[in-house]
Amino acid sequence: MPDGAQTMPHQDSLTATPPDEADFARVLARAVRRRDFLGGAVSMGAAAFVLGAGGFVRGARADAPVFDFAQIPANTLDTVSVPKGYAWRVMASWGDPLWSAGVPFDPATRGNAESQALAFGDNNDGMELFSMQGRHVLCVNHEYVNKPVMFGNRAEGLPENTDDVRKGMSGHGVSIVELTAGERGWAVQKDAPWNRRITVATPMLLRGPAAGHALVRTAADPKGERVLGTMNNCGSGRTPWGTYLTCEENFNGYFSSSDTDRELSATERRYGIGHKDRGYGFARVDERFDIARHPNEPHRFGYVVEIDPFDPGAAPVKRTALGRFKHENAEVVLSESGHVVVYMGDDERGEFLYRYVSKGRYAGNGEGGDLLDEGTLYVAKFNDDFSGEWLALTPERLGMSDAEICVMTRIAASKAGATTMDRPEWIAAHPSKAEVYCALTNNKNRGRKPNASGDATPVGGPNPRKGNLYGQIVRWKPEAGDHAAPTFRWDLFAMAGNPVVHSDAYAGSANITSENMFNSPDGLAFDGRGRLWIQTDGKYSDKGDFAGMGNNQMLVADPNSGEIRRFMVGPKECEITGLCWDADYKTMFVGVQHPGEKGGSHFPDGGDSVPRSCVIAVTKDDGTPVG
Ligand code: FEO
Ligand code: CA
Ligand code: CA
Repeated sequence: MPDGAQTMPHQDSLTATPPDEADFARVLARAVRRRDFLGGAVSMGAAAFVLGAGGFVRGARADAPVFDFAQIPANTLDTVSVPKGYAWRVMASWGDPLWSAGVPFDPATRGNAESQALAFGDNNDGMELFSMQGRHVLCVNHEYVNKPVMFGNRAEGLPENTDDVRKGMSGHGVSIVELTAGERGWAVQKDAPWNRRITVATPMLLRGPAAGHALVRTAADPKGERVLGTMNNCGSGRTPWGTYLTCEENFNGYFSSSDTDRELSATERRYGIGHKDRGYGFARVDERFDIARHPNEPHRFGYVVEIDPFDPGAAPVKRTALGRFKHENAEVVLSESGHVVVYMGDDERGEFLYRYVSKGRYAGNGEGGDLLDEGTLYVAKFNDDFSGEWLALTPERLGMSDAEICVMTRIAASKAGATTMDRPEWIAAHPSKAEVYCALTNNKNRGRKPNASGDATPVGGPNPRKGNLYGQIVRWKPEAGDHAAPTFRWDLFAMAGNPVVHSDAYAGSANITSENMFNSPDGLAFDGRGRLWIQTDGKYSDKGDFAGMGNNQMLVADPNSGEIRRFMVGPKECEITGLCWDADYKTMFVGVQHPGEKGGSHFPDGGDSVPRSCVIAVTKDDGTPVG
């Protein structure tokens, strides 16, 4: 197994550093001051909000890890923009073959099932780089396929035949590629022994409390232990023992029913399983995606999946103990006592924020997968007084079995009385202190409509704006700096907004200005110097409420001062998602997802080329660390 210390350098410092009391006091002071406006912002209007938002200590940068770049303006160009002194280049694009047996991307056909199975998938998302004995392997999620582009050679922009559907299946999953250092920096090594494609057809194992339970047994798998494939792999994570975590998000969109009169169960409705899929047509080539015939198949998706990047022969493992929902990412930390703690968001309007705490402790020996099979899952409850608690999802509390809790996690969390959130996206833990950040991307239903089980979505707490257009970033400090503690204190690190168009709560917090404004924070990751990188998946109309925000982008924040600077702007109609670095932080890998999803981009190849999702490498011209 890989050396955990090498692959996860920040974990030691995270467990060794006591909480910064001085900083905590400041956070609380800010939070309390800001509370005055949070409660009344929407109803009291502009004055109350602007005064309160001043709690963000504008310009207090004395103790900040300084940024060594000048912020770039928003734009709507069809390219990637980075600050002066930085450069970017494409590392891997959708359709690039990973083996010599593959064929180069063909813009006329956009590939077929066979070529796609040997090539980099579509819509790259979360990713992590692993190193062992001088070898480097990049694991990259492929969240979904951009149908109008992948099937842009078809009249309807949808799969027309069986091969098309299979091509779509192979465009999903995970790509694992070895990177080698060349003259121009890191490059994908074709035919490397680590190279691997994981798709909707890859055999994998079910482990944890749900494994073997009646809810996950199917005709093809009567023991409920083996599943084919993973899909809608959104955010990522990494364990202290050097494995990759890939998170299944909108798995519901691939199931359909051949019986259109079939009544949907409460669980199916809660998870968004319906009679129609989202146009992928999986059930046309594989009947397990037909819920009328195989109602348990959806119970086998919606998990965090563990992959050993250095063992291409090992089956990925679905860790059911981490719950079944629309997983965004999985942020793993070790508690003071060595327990494995995993923070996870369920990205849907009015869904919840979760934490898993392992029963056992990590021994630091590079072996740990089993620690993700036995533990307690918790869901967050945020109180308006800036306190919060983790509600344990246990059979005693809920009257559900462990297996039921792991398969119908949303229903368990509703029973527990968790706080409905504004779409929890990525969660990132500070590398040197016990402080955790979560992007709440937006929620048009806030204060207007309950979630799919009828849980109310009141305006307040960390979700303070009705019909939340822009999103916010909530952060919390676990009690006594212990990630396994039962309670925490929280505040809002940033509320996105547009201070040019609005003068009320929708202007955003004081660290949002006309120069750095953005909407819909999604990807979050800390670099080794403790700066928080923020990626967006929002509206790119550049009009109305979103005027002046330009294309989707990446910014970087100083957690101490609250300052946020725009570092990157993506091409037209893309989302920026997925972020990792090499060991010395001199190369930053960034994902550009679905450029031209509405037909308006030719990124990255330009001219009249077919737009392609890709991973880009960003470096600094002087060869020093990025940022
Ligand atoms: Fe895949 Fe919630 O973004
Ligand atoms: Ca996302
Ligand atoms: Ca998103």
